[in-house]
Amino acid sequence: MERITVVGAGHVGATAAQRIAERELAREVVVVDILEGVPQGKALDQWESAPVEGFDTRVTGAQGYAETAGSGIYVVTAGLARKPGMSRDDLLRKNTEIISGISKEIARHSPDSIIIMVTNPLDVMSYVAMKTTGFDRQRVVGMAGILDTARFRSFIALELDVSVQDIQALVLGGHGDSMVPIVSTVTVGGIPLTEMLSEERIEALVERTRKGGGEIVKLLGTGSAYYAPSSAAVQMVEAIVRDKKRILPCAAWLEGEFGLEGLFLGVPCKLGQPGLEAVLEVPLTDAEQQALAASAEAVRGTMSLLSL
Ligand code: APR
Repeated sequence: MERITVVGAGHVGATAAQRIAERELAREVVVVDILEGVPQGKALDQWESAPVEGFDTRVTGAQGYAETAGSGIYVVTAGLARKPGMSRDDLLRKNTEIISGISKEIARHSPDSIIIMVTNPLDVMSYVAMKTTGFDRQRVVGMAGILDTARFRSFIALELDVSVQDIQALVLGGHGDSMVPIVSTVTVGGIPLTEMLSEERIEALVERTRKGGGEIVKLLGTGSAYYAPSSAAVQMVEAIVRDKKRILPCAAWLEGEFGLEGLFLGVPCKLGQPGLEAVLEVPLTDAEQQALAASAEAVRGTMSLLSL
């Protein structure tokens, strides 16, 4: 791919740009931020690591979007973090403004691009991007499920003292608190997790995963997780750039799958060169179906606060 743009040169964005460059997923990575000098400074610093790391992907920074023209993918991480005294609604309003502004620029400068939404609340921000750009659902996908499953897999690996590579897991629904882990699908080297751990232990790991974001926030004191979130976003980039047809849990616009439509929600997605190639359905128990419906209601509740 000729060019990939990362919007937002903060923790998640800068780390995503670095991972994209180090894996040479494009000839150029452009990092855009409203902060004067910051995207240019981080980009230059990353480019200066190229001779040591051995990558040839050019890393550049910009305040505007002319430099991003013709990008195949935009990873959108720009936004505000919630500050003391700021309500969730204030944050939603502010981030909606930011994401719709960015989406207009994307549609103008790279009308054929694919958007990977990372900014929270990502299900709703994905909707804002889809609505503002007019892109179809193939070209707007949100990042959450890969991060939630990665956290779950990392905790299972610690518990069982086995390689993370051998652990497969699937979570559906919203990000974090409202995620719906499909425990029957979790396997360790092909063996069902339920054969290896008690129900109580599995529930404890699920609970830790649900609160995984909060655990990091608490430890850091300021800011939130960015290493694992950027890894997750870049896995989506790689699936698209290399047309891998990977099956990954991502937030996709639903058109009747799982009995739901008209919202973004975490579901198993097939990602390849055109973006979202398909949403895959899995059989759910009644409890899982109910949990997914509750997750959908939470997303719809936030969507109803939007004035687009
Ligand atoms: N255009 C471009 N960049 C913007 C804009 C805008 N309109 N508005 C804000 N930004 C930039 C900020 O200047 C900042 O550099 O977005 C960046 C956000 O970075 P951080 O505050 O470090 O946040 P980060 O930890 O990277 O998280 C970004 O990802 O995981 C989600 O919940 C998280 O929504 C948050 C997003």
